[in-house]
Amino acid sequence: MSNLEQTLSIIKPDAVERNLENKIKDFFEKNNLKIIKNKKVKISKEEASEFYKVHQTKPFYNDLCNYLSSGPIVVMVLEGENAISKNRQLMGATDPLKAEEGTLRKMYGISIDKNSVHGSDSLENGKIEINFFFK
Ligand code: CMP
Repeated sequence: MSNLEQTLSIIKPDAVERNLENKIKDFFEKNNLKIIKNKKVKISKEEASEFYKVHQTKPFYNDLCNYLSSGPIVVMVLEGENAISKNRQLMGATDPLKAEEGTLRKMYGISIDKNSVHGSDSLENGKIEINFFFK
């Protein structure tokens, strides 16, 4: 049975800075996730804090919000079969040191903070995140 979903993907400042935007986009497209919306933006710390508010009680929250607002990012809506879990597989583990071979974070991630990409972790959060950037 088909299960077409949409998920939000972010190419984080470390990857934009290293000109990895096109490589990452090609990787999604080759793996059957279609980029149906796309824009490059720079967000404020307040916007980053709102975006990541699910993590507000975590010790890394402040650094995370500073980081996401530190430079341009590319935000995309990816669409495809099981897009949420597919994107998470393609990204690999949050910590690049633990990510599997062939995943984006293994290939490009520098550290748990500079891990190159973000992806929605559930259908419900995906809707909230898509609406945050594309309303
Ligand atoms: P992301 O998928 O964007 O979601 C939250 C981010 O917090 C995560 O990727 C990491 O870059 C960052 N982060 C920093 N420290 C941690 C940690 N200890 N556990 C999980 N995420 C962390």
